[in-house]
Amino acid sequence: MLRVQGLEAGYGAAQVLFGVDLAVGDGEVVSLMGRNGMGKTTTVRAVMGLVPPTAGRIEVQGQDLTAAPPFRVAQAGLGLVPEGRQVFPTLTVDENLVATAASRHGQRRWTRETVYALFPRLAERKRHLGQHLSGGEQQMLAIGRALMTNPRLLVLDEATEGLAPLIRVEIWQCLAGLKAEGLAILVIDKHLDALLALADRHVVIEKGRVVWAGTSLAFREDSSIVERHLHV
Ligand SMILES: Nc1ncnc2c1ncn2[C@@H]1O[C@H](COP(=O)(O)OP(=O)(O)OP(=O)(O)O)[C@@H](O)[C@H]1O
Ligand SMILES: [Mg+2]
Repeated sequence: MLRVQGLEAGYGAAQVLFGVDLAVGDGEVVSLMGRNGMGKTTTVRAVMGLVPPTAGRIEVQGQDLTAAPPFRVAQAGLGLVPEGRQVFPTLTVDENLVATAASRHGQRRWTRETVYALFPRLAERKRHLGQHLSGGEQQMLAIGRALMTNPRLLVLDEATEGLAPLIRVEIWQCLAGLKAEGLAILVIDKHLDALLALADRHVVIEKGRVVWAGTSLAFREDSSIVERHLHV
């Protein structure tokens, strides 16, 4: 589905990524882990066409999308739930969903109706403005908005950051349901147990380089990974 090889990127003179390799197979869930400031968001932004790569290659289903503009990446089937959610504050829930609606490659799995079925709470709030939603509702809306593009790969940058425990559980259950449907997911989050339960494989980065990659089983067997690469 997605193959990233030797990705380098940064902001002006400040290089942040120094050769990131990452792949997500069809229907696979992969987590991207690393301490604060290690380059997770930059990786995701480069993949989405929001930060120009300075080296490396990004392929989606065999198609070269290195340095492609964001709309082409979306057309290729990548849907982003961005860090900080970024819902449109002065649009209603309903309008936020309509704003990204697209039926790609004949796929019409996701419409407002099916998003509301996934998140009944959003249906109750459909005429409320984005800025008046709780954090949990905003995250549901951000996920719904990404689903409205009918993606093949859903990319979540901080899936549950700042959310109350009960809402977090709801988000993880929703992602498990999407995985069961066969949607591929690339997820960033700080809750290790939830990531190990959901994702098939994990990629750990440090200072813009991959320092570990493997399955949940391999992760659990190497108790030093957390200490070496994730603990603050
Ligand atoms: N717009 C920007 N301009 C300049 N430097 C930036 C910008 N965004 C991020 N950086 C820097 O790039 C590095 C990587 O940041 P990035 O946001 O990719 O990290 P992250 O792993 O997502 O961190 P976090 O866990 O805090 O979200 C950091 O040193 C950060 O300060
Ligand atoms: Mg980040």
